[in-house]
Amino acid sequence: MKKNMKLKDGTYMPKLGQGTWYMGEDPKLREKEIEALQEGILLGMTLIDTAEMYGEGRSEKLVGEAIKIFPREDLFLVSKVYPHNAGRKNIFTSLKRSLERLDTPYLDLYLLHWRGSVPLSETIACMEEMKKEGLIKNWGVSNFDLEDMKELLSCPSGDQCSVNQVLYHLGSRGIEYDLLPYLKEENIALMAYCPLGHDKNKRRRITEHPVVREVAEKHSITPLQLMLSFTLVEDCVCAIPKASSLSHVKENAETLHLTLTEEDLLRLNEAFSAPRKSVPLDML
Ligand SMILES: NC(=O)c1ccc[n+]([C@@H]2O[C@H](COP(=O)([O-])OP(=O)(O)OC[C@H]3O[C@@H](n4cnc5c(N)ncnc54)[C@H](OP(=O)(O)O)[C@@H]3O)[C@@H](O)[C@H]2O)c1
Repeated sequence: MKKNMKLKDGTYMPKLGQGTWYMGEDPKLREKEIEALQEGILLGMTLIDTAEMYGEGRSEKLVGEAIKIFPREDLFLVSKVYPHNAGRKNIFTSLKRSLERLDTPYLDLYLLHWRGSVPLSETIACMEEMKKEGLIKNWGVSNFDLEDMKELLSCPSGDQCSVNQVLYHLGSRGIEYDLLPYLKEENIALMAYCPLGHDKNKRRRITEHPVVREVAEKHSITPLQLMLSFTLVEDCVCAIPKASSLSHVKENAETLHLTLTEEDLLRLNEAFSAPRKSVPLDML
């Protein structure tokens, strides 16, 4: 398994990162969550995904504390702006606040969290300005379907978008029909969120499937490690599982050393096939 992928400007982005939604919200879990993020970084999951929305800044604060002990250049920090803050009036302040909470001079990637009412061309122009000022290295979007992407790319400098972060896992493969091929063609990376299916109930039908169990057993891994490996098969896809316990972090990091065979993929395809027609983008 490759550890990194290349963005269109030549920057390397880790294939496997760490999500942080709901982190930093409960003071009692703070130490444990910081320890988990730090262990993940030590094990190679150096991309951290957060957002101004997560706990209204508390996730970014927690990340800022966790990364203090690491050289900045060893990390790949991603944050997201609320759609209602993505216009010229608010976006620069939003970014400034995110940088302050993360205690960092720049973001590696800044994403529009989902599409709102601010014209795309306005957000793009601001993103490009922030890039020129060195406050962000790259920008992208999240929860954009094929039509949104086409519209984005038709805007001036829209082709500078380097990432689309969308929901993707073994049980939700709608993007493979049209969005993923389009992103590949345009050299835009896909960042898979909820790669573990978000929660126990949502993922149960996948982890308890006999084929998933058999393939996982063959590799001596857990069904969730198999789910995570599946999202990393394509070179242009990276994944950001969230784990706040050390054991989960360690299990997730192990998938960096795993490669699924053609036969594994065929079996998984039979059990959880990708749709053969366009379907609405799955979101959380
Ligand atoms: N752009 C967007 O709109 C959007 C939407 C959703 C999510 N995201 C991003 O994507 C990240 C990941 O998505 P997610 O947090 O919703 O779901 P997820 O990563 O699919 O699943 C997280 C859940 O899986 C558990 N887990 C993690 N590793 C495990 C392991 N090895 N074995 C068993 N359980 C394990 C975690 O438990 P513990 O925490 O107890 O370890 C947590 O309950 C988010 O944190 C966020 O950064 C973005």
